[in-house]
Amino acid sequence: MYYIAALRSFLSRKKDFSVDFAFEDLGLEIAKGREKVKVLEGVTGEIKHGRVTAVMGPSGAGKTTFLTTLAGKAYYGAQTGKILINGQESKIRNFRKLLGFVPQEDIMLRTLTVKGMNTLINIV
Ligand SMILES: Nc1ncnc2c1ncn2[C@@H]1O[C@H](COP(=O)(O)OP(=O)(O)OP(=O)(O)O)[C@@H](O)[C@H]1O
Ligand SMILES: [Mg+2]
Repeated sequence: MYYIAALRSFLSRKKDFSVDFAFEDLGLEIAKGREKVKVLEGVTGEIKHGRVTAVMGPSGAGKTTFLTTLAGKAYYGAQTGKILINGQESKIRNFRKLLGFVPQEDIMLRTLTVKGMNTLINIV
């Protein structure tokens, strides 16, 4: 009974928090030898809270590159363009405690503990 009362009290105090993303002219440039290659260019749009948003396109269209860039995880290249979070220019990595990123490929390593895997993901 105490727990239910405590939970009710917690939920009633909980403030609504939502995250809206916008991206303007988002791109990714990677170095290939001496040249710079644009693997993502001119992506503008928004992802609103409370909705399911799908990124669709044929294989090689750039879905993973787009999401990796948006998530600030495309360390192999230089991001161009702007990312806005709730209307302010920011980085998604600043919200890492609130957001999850599930990669396309399974990157769980059998030999690591859950804690070890967590540490690795935070490093990568
Ligand atoms: N690091 C890189 N080096 C060279 N080319 C790259 C690199 N990253 C992305 N690309 C290019 O971007 C294109 C898009 O790749 P991406 O993996 O984002 O496609 P995808 O839409 O996720 O495809 P799939 O449906 O097969 O997962 C690739 O065809 C490739 O030419
Ligand atoms: Mg992909």
